[in-house]
Amino acid sequence: MIRLPVVMLNGTILRMKDVALRQQSRPINIDDPEDFALAQSLVREMFRVLYSDPSGVALAAPQIGVLLQVVVISYEDKDEGGQRTMALLNPKITQSSEEEIEDKEICLSVPNLTGKVARANTVKVEGYDQLGQPVNIMAEGFFARVLQHEIDHLNGILCIDRVKGNLDNVPDFPERRTDPTMRKLGLTKKKST
Ligand code: NI
Repeated sequence: MIRLPVVMLNGTILRMKDVALRQQSRPINIDDPEDFALAQSLVREMFRVLYSDPSGVALAAPQIGVLLQVVVISYEDKDEGGQRTMALLNPKITQSSEEEIEDKEICLSVPNLTGKVARANTVKVEGYDQLGQPVNIMAEGFFARVLQHEIDHLNGILCIDRVKGNLDNVPDFPERRTDPTMRKLGLTKKKST
């Protein structure tokens, strides 16, 4: 039997300098009932945290301090004309297009900075859903970007690591619920606008 770590969750999204964001997360053992139950309660908590930030699109478990390969995604997909909501356990990129697209990314763990990141335009991702069923996803455009960003989190990589050009301040940063982070980073509202 696998001994599980005691997880203390307080629903706080970890910020840039937290060491947990730089660790490799371990996969969920889908066949182990205890590990799988842990993943399911983690998914619930992660959706709660994601929905608490109106600007949030997706969240990876390390962002709330849990080093497990779990990701939740929820955003309005304008092309598909609806809400795209899913949880993924052990997501892995199995194929990515050579064609890359550059676009700005903002991370909930680095809410005050943005920069252009080149990502594969299409990716194939394999993993499991929250019921433990295998999933095979072909993603394109923004969805592919989101998946690559979140899977990076599971490997201790932040999008700012991949920015080749300038890092810019996020213009609407002071309006978001990030006061504690701003204090931690020594920023004032005036400075960051
Ligand atoms: Ni992120």
